[in-house]
Amino acid sequence: MSKYLIAGNWKMNTNLDEAKKITDSLHSFIGFDSEVEMLICPPFTHLVFLSEIIDLSRISLGAQNVHYEEKGAFTGEISNEMLLSVGCEYVIIGHSERRTLFGETDEMVNKKVMNSLKTGLRVILCIGETLEERESDNTNSVLETQLNKALLGVDTTINLKIAYEPVWAIGTGRTASVEQISETHGFISNYLNNRFGTNTIKKLYGGSMNSENAKEILSIPNVNGDLIGGASLKPENFISIYNSALELC
Ligand code: PGA
Repeated sequence: MSKYLIAGNWKMNTNLDEAKKITDSLHSFIGFDSEVEMLICPPFTHLVFLSEIIDLSRISLGAQNVHYEEKGAFTGEISNEMLLSVGCEYVIIGHSERRTLFGETDEMVNKKVMNSLKTGLRVILCIGETLEERESDNTNSVLETQLNKALLGVDTTINLKIAYEPVWAIGTGRTASVEQISETHGFISNYLNNRFGTNTIKKLYGGSMNSENAKEILSIPNVNGDLIGGASLKPENFISIYNSALELC
């Protein structure tokens, strides 16, 4: 199992040509390394094309969302099977933008997690508190509730990863401090240990990661990778973050 997972969440950015260029650049920089896994999560429309040009032994492919039903009359939605059929290994579930902008509830997140795990996709479950929740000292209870609800009925952890993304740090240029990340990742780690009796579940940090702060954040105990938005669209920045992880191995 790799030591670090460096994941790029491209969000609703890039047309297909731009996506191919980014992917080509990543390929030309990256060799195969078993200690650090690189993952890109481009928009749905690019997945099938990118899976044809990506060497999946060097770069893994993931989606940013999925529907929880297997198939049927769900206009505009994408299923787990569809993702698997185009070479996706991973799916991001419960990102705060899905929760706040698209009304995704904890119950929906739970159904998605259950079904994706059942189908064999690797799940990156996102959790995180708002600024108001942090300032009123409710971070741990908010995270605990999100974890309780998202993981209700989940009994396998093999393909489960958790991304801690403070909502106030996403896309704001404001990163959580080393102390905050350390404390929160410690809390999540204890939760997972108590709940599943294992500390092998990867915990990623996300929120304004960049090439300058990557090494410091990745060296915090219980941080096993990053979920990177903005900086993942610039290959040189993404590679630099990836290299920071390599240096720590
Ligand atoms: P950011 O986004 O790196 O642009 O802050 C992180 C995320 O939303 O996953």
